[in-house]
Amino acid sequence: MNTKELSASLAGDVLLGGEISVHRLGFGAMRLTGEGIWGPPKDRKGALAVLRRAAELGVNFIDTADSYGPHISEELIAEALFPYRAGLVIATKGGWNRPGPNQWTHDATPRHLRSAVEGSLTRLRLERIDVYQLHIPDPVVSFESSVETLAQLRNEGKIRLIALSNVTQEHIERASRIVPVASVQNRYSFADREWDYVVDYCERKQIAFIPWFPLGAGKVAGEVLDRIAKAHRASPTQIALAWLLRRSSIVLPIPGTSSIAHLEENVAAASLRLADEDYQMLSRVPELAASR
Ligand SMILES: NC(=O)c1ccc[n+]([C@@H]2O[C@H](COP(=O)([O-])OP(=O)(O)OC[C@H]3O[C@@H](n4cnc5c(N)ncnc54)[C@H](OP(=O)(O)O)[C@@H]3O)[C@@H](O)[C@H]2O)c1
Repeated sequence: MNTKELSASLAGDVLLGGEISVHRLGFGAMRLTGEGIWGPPKDRKGALAVLRRAAELGVNFIDTADSYGPHISEELIAEALFPYRAGLVIATKGGWNRPGPNQWTHDATPRHLRSAVEGSLTRLRLERIDVYQLHIPDPVVSFESSVETLAQLRNEGKIRLIALSNVTQEHIERASRIVPVASVQNRYSFADREWDYVVDYCERKQIAFIPWFPLGAGKVAGEVLDRIAKAHRASPTQIALAWLLRRSSIVLPIPGTSSIAHLEENVAAASLRLADEDYQMLSRVPELAASR
């Protein structure tokens, strides 16, 4: 594959909050940390190289969070890419505490979110965060008070656009009464369609939808993917990404990897177009899996 064919721009663009345009194949920076999304990566130089290669390949949307590491993912992004190229959008998040490896405890109190935003601004070396996502609603904190805090931080000039993650349509509607919602990030893939109705809702409202765990899983999913991948001379991962890109023009996949080879493979999916019958076959995977 020549370098011209290898560009995130080939996936087309999506508009965030009606004002920031990014290529529709981003990068998820969670996997750049140590085991259990904790501590530094085993291969620090390799992690920095993956980030720099992503930018070279035209990726201009990077997803991260203060809780990845914690702090490590944001620090690596700044180390690899600061001063940032014009047009590079870093979307970070807050709303979790990290007591240890693989441990996540909620905290979306106004006090926590305020200090989380300040910490992300410092680590990312930014004066304003382009996209700040509430990582997850906190079950013991009023959702409105979390969103209102982010809206205040936006009024103070510390955040440009506000976004949500791990939410229902009702959450999006409640947040939208307080502040415009630029994007929604939920778990989603061709094989995992719990949030189909949220994707449809986002499409109607022109809110970007960012699927996490975009590569799908499961036995039936694997069989169908392998078959279609062979026919396209593509990898299963590329087919899973091509399905997402075709699902809706508001979908912005952010496949995560710690490997340059996987990164290049994922970015190459930007130019892959699925035939109708392959798209339909993959769309039926959840039904097929349920009937076995
Ligand atoms: N909002 C949330 O609550 C939430 C939750 C989870 C994740 N996220 C975000 O979503 C991003 C993506 O999610 P994710 O990391 O869970 O899932 P993912 O991107 O679907 O999967 C990552 C896994 O797939 C492997 N992989 C990536 N590309 C591959 C390829 N071409 N071939 C084979 N294996 C490949 C990676 O391993 P290698 O490193 O070996 O490539 C890694 O183990 C994260 O980075 C994070 O930014 C958000």
